[in-house]
Amino acid sequence: MKTNVNRLLAAALWKIYTRSEEVLPWDTGADFPWADPVFGRRTLAEHLDEDNGAASRSSRERALQIDWLWHKLDLQPGQHVLDITCGPGLYAVELARRGCTVTGIDINPAAIEYAVNLAEQAGVAGRCTFIQQDVREMAAYTAQFDAALFLYEQLAVYATDEARLLLDKVAGALRPGGRLALELLDQDNVDKTDSSWWFTDDTGLWGDSPFLHLGERIWDDELQASLERYHILHLETGQLKQYTLFDQTYSVAALRALLLESGFGAVDHYLNWAGLPLYDAGEWVVYVARK
Ligand SMILES: C[S@@+](CC[C@H](N)C(=O)[O-])C[C@H]1O[C@@H](n2cnc3c(N)ncnc32)[C@H](O)[C@@H]1O
Repeated sequence: MKTNVNRLLAAALWKIYTRSEEVLPWDTGADFPWADPVFGRRTLAEHLDEDNGAASRSSRERALQIDWLWHKLDLQPGQHVLDITCGPGLYAVELARRGCTVTGIDINPAAIEYAVNLAEQAGVAGRCTFIQQDVREMAAYTAQFDAALFLYEQLAVYATDEARLLLDKVAGALRPGGRLALELLDQDNVDKTDSSWWFTDDTGLWGDSPFLHLGERIWDDELQASLERYHILHLETGQLKQYTLFDQTYSVAALRALLLESGFGAVDHYLNWAGLPLYDAGEWVVYVARK
C-alpha cells in the first residue's frame, strides 16, 4: 500500500516537473471548481472565517462597505437589488434587513443554501431570492432592478469578451437610472512579479487530510493578467490535483469604456474604497456606474 502511494507521489512530482511552461489564458478549467459540492462546502468555510478575507470580508469590514454602498448607490427600502456572485448572502441579507428586495446569484450550492437559511433566520426570506447558477447563464432580466452589486473581483476571471457579455446583461437588468457597484483589482497597484510558494496543512480549502500545496504565479505583461497555478499533492493517497486561476486587470480607462459600451451612461470610480479602513482597500477600485 505504502509503496503504491510512494509511486503515485513520485509520478505526481514528475508531472509537476514536466508541466507546461506555456500559460494559456482562460483555457478549460482556468477557474476553481466552484460548483463542486465538496469544494463548495470548503469554500463556504472560507467565506465565514472572520480571520480570513480571501472569500468574503469580515463582518466589521462588510458593515462599513454596506453603509458606503447604501449611500453611493442611493439605495432605499423597497428597491430591488441584484447581487451577482453573492456567495453566502452576507451583503444581500443585510440589504434585505434594510428593506430592499434582493436576488442573489452564486454557483456554489453550499453558499446558496447558507444564504437561504440566513435570510430565514433574519426574518427576511420573503424579500430574498437566491439562485444557484453560473452567472454567465443568468436570465436576461429586463430593467427590473434598481441596483446591482458585483463585488470582490469575480468578473476578472473571465476573458474580456465574456466579461463584456456579462456587463451587457447586467446593464439590461437595470432600470433607467439603475446603479451598479463593481469591484476589481487596481491595475496600478497589482503585484506584477512572478513568484512561487509552498505550504503543508492537514485541512483547508484543498482537502481534509495532509496535503502539500505548491503554488506559482505568473504575471503576463502583455495581457496585464496574472495566472496562478496550484499543484495540490494529497500525501496519504498520492493523488495530484491542479487548479488554475486567471485574474484580468483593467485600467480605469479600459473598464470605463467597457461599461459605457454596455449601456451605462455615467461611471464614477473610487480608488482605495474611498478611504474605508479595509485591510486590503489599496488593492481595489470600485466602479459605480449609472444606467
Ligand atoms: C470572492 S467570492 C465573493 C463573494 C461575495 N460577493 C462576497 O464578497 O462575499 C466569489 C464568489 O463568486 C462565486 N462564483 C465563482 N464563479 C461563479 C460563476 N461562474 N457563477 C456564479 N458565481 C460564481 C463563488 O462561488 C464565490 O461565492
